[in-house]
Amino acid sequence: MKKRVFIKTYGCQMNVYDSSRMADCLSPLGFVEAQTPQGADLVILNTCHIREKAAEKVFSELGHLRALKEAKGRRGGEMLIAVGGCVAQAEGAELLRRAPFVDIVFGPQSYHRLPELVARAARKTGEGLLETSFPAEPKFDFLPAPGASAGVSALLSVQEGCDKFCSFCVVPYTRGAEFSRPAGQVLAEARRLVAGGAREITLLGQNVNAYHGKAPQGGEWRLGELLRAVSEIKGLERLRYTTSHPREVDRSLIAAHRDLPKLMPHLHLPAQTGSDRVLALMNRRHSADDYRRIVDRLREARADLALSSDFIVGFPGEEEEDFAATLAFVKEIGFAQAFSFKYSPRPGTPAAAAPRQVPEPQKAERLAALQALIARQQCAFNQSFLGRVLPVLLEKPGRRGGQLLGKSAYLQNVHVTAAAERRGEIAPVLIREAGLKSLGGALFDRASA
Ligand code: SAH
Ligand code: SF4
Ligand code: F3S
Repeated sequence: MKKRVFIKTYGCQMNVYDSSRMADCLSPLGFVEAQTPQGADLVILNTCHIREKAAEKVFSELGHLRALKEAKGRRGGEMLIAVGGCVAQAEGAELLRRAPFVDIVFGPQSYHRLPELVARAARKTGEGLLETSFPAEPKFDFLPAPGASAGVSALLSVQEGCDKFCSFCVVPYTRGAEFSRPAGQVLAEARRLVAGGAREITLLGQNVNAYHGKAPQGGEWRLGELLRAVSEIKGLERLRYTTSHPREVDRSLIAAHRDLPKLMPHLHLPAQTGSDRVLALMNRRHSADDYRRIVDRLREARADLALSSDFIVGFPGEEEEDFAATLAFVKEIGFAQAFSFKYSPRPGTPAAAAPRQVPEPQKAERLAALQALIARQQCAFNQSFLGRVLPVLLEKPGRRGGQLLGKSAYLQNVHVTAAAERRGEIAPVLIREAGLKSLGGALFDRASA
């Protein structure tokens, strides 16, 4: 009998990848994915712990699920509730105490054990099950091959975990130590995705450019070498990777940007701040000048490279002059897009216990100023494409009839007037509209004339 699983995903792209692999794990047990939690046999929350707000969402969602579970119970049915991801890893036992109606809590490195956990939970042992160990065996060796319907644009985890211990960040604690999948395994998964219709693949890792996986013929490959091998797969048209750390941009990676036409001219390279003093407090172990030099070398290798980044404002000890350095840095580098966040103290991280926490109103003021500057840059970047023809990967149905939503090489969303059957193509689009968040245009080729 078919059973229904609803998976809700929070956080980064790695969680999006993990959620789809959880579904792959459960499919041999007869689970099919549901679009809503109503009436589901199993609900999984794949959670994020990066900032307080992200973690809080889990508890409010659990409140709703409890009501659904009880309602189903009254009708004689059963709904299992499982919490996975980074909140589960960080707060495991505490989570079961606060929400005793949760049946399973499992960490990001142990979801290959879901089938067994679900079977045990269904036997009603009473207590919620907790599986947050970091298993010695990598989960990737136990996951079934990814499902066939990965979509036109697919994600592929190649590296996990983090050994960097930036003083604000929970990831080294929630994801564990750095691990790289063997290149042969990555290539096999990439080929399968392309055979299933993927035109674009994004290689994922918390520190993706710290990749150092076993090479197929022995020895080790860094990310540059892995990108080179993946880009040789016939039928694959676009290749990306995220998220990178400035300390790990090596010569082979820069060469990949120079040599591989399929490697898209866009790079997400988190800077966090433009102040050397704050970079040191953050334990980022690079300076603002190191970042500038990397950008220069990348732009030399690929002149049309666009950059995006992450910034934190209000890190403990950040003074007005540090923040001014961040604004100057953003103006100087020029970003096509960037995320910025107020510093959020996370339990167990060194910065949370640091003196001189920045008061909330100052954080809010700095965030608004930085976001206004970034928005101006993003708008100018988008408007620079007005009247130009861009290749756009037509990914999914658009917001209006007769439209498809696509992505430019620079990761801009493009609303394209195009027939539904053009989905999956990379087509030339004449850009006629440019706003803060997206571009708009129409197909510009013979097929559309
Ligand atoms: N591995 C990536 C970042 C992963 S987390 C890197 O090293 O760059 C994504 C972003 O969340 C970070 O770049 C940072 O800007 C932000 N972030 C992480 N911890 C945070 C915290 N405690 N408060 C606010 N923002 C945070
Ligand atoms: Fe977090 Fe720093 Fe590791 Fe990125 S490099 S995941 S910010 S500890
Ligand atoms: Fe969040 Fe974990 Fe990703 S904390 S950002 S889901 S690695």
